[in-house]
Amino acid sequence: MRIDILTLFPEMFTSFLEGSLLGAAQANGLLDIRVVNIRDYAEGVHRQVDDRPFGGGPGMLLMPGPVVDCVEAVRKQAADAGHLVMLTPAGRRLDQSVVEELARRDRIVLLCGRYEGFDERIRETLEPDEISIGDYVLSGGEVAAMVIVDAVARLVPGVLGDEESARQDSFSGAERLVEGPQYTRPREFRGLQVPDVLLSGDHARIAKWRHDQALVATERRAHSIHSPRSIP
Ligand SMILES: C[S@@+](CC[C@H](N)C(=O)[O-])C[C@H]1O[C@@H](n2cnc3c(N)ncnc32)[C@H](O)[C@@H]1O
Repeated sequence: MRIDILTLFPEMFTSFLEGSLLGAAQANGLLDIRVVNIRDYAEGVHRQVDDRPFGGGPGMLLMPGPVVDCVEAVRKQAADAGHLVMLTPAGRRLDQSVVEELARRDRIVLLCGRYEGFDERIRETLEPDEISIGDYVLSGGEVAAMVIVDAVARLVPGVLGDEESARQDSFSGAERLVEGPQYTRPREFRGLQVPDVLLSGDHARIAKWRHDQALVATERRAHSIHSPRSIP
């Protein structure tokens, strides 16, 4: 799978892409991730990419020229122009089903915004898939792009050592349950025991217990989402 990340801050991705999982996936040819500086497509000595909003208001907006030129040039680099994603708080909310949808593509192009965001004509011209990673505002699309790359990479066949691990993760499978409790050694920690069933060697019982626990955890999460913790 090929992923192009278009950003004004390419250096933010250096250590992220060298990390163990993504570094190995690129070395093995499972992922081809390229980071492109949008500023390389800006004109003039100052290579200007942003300007003040018409009508007034705070901050700067990304100008359509350099952004559209950059996206179009990068998409033309391969026969498959790729699925263009614009990172924006106004987009559809990222969840595991959106991640699965993106992971089925052969190529995705991630467009990171900055400052006060994009001139509207960028959206109108490129007609991207607009995605938000949640209802809060980040300073730029880079962290959101990293979230997408990380989540999508886990689903690319061969990237995780054990394919079963992605299938058992939270939000996977038809029921989209969160994972229940898990235990490793020691068998006892500060008086807390590992449940007997996990030591039984009975795989069918263990699978049923895990499923039941996942239902409990999912139910608990549903309640906690609607009961914010108060600040004392
Ligand atoms: C400071 S934000 C712009 C916020 C914009 N003025 C607004 O109110 O919606 C700058 C950039 O960060 C990225 N960004 C911020 N929050 C995001 C989110 N929740 N999901 C995805 N991208 C986000 C977008 O690329 C955005 O263009």
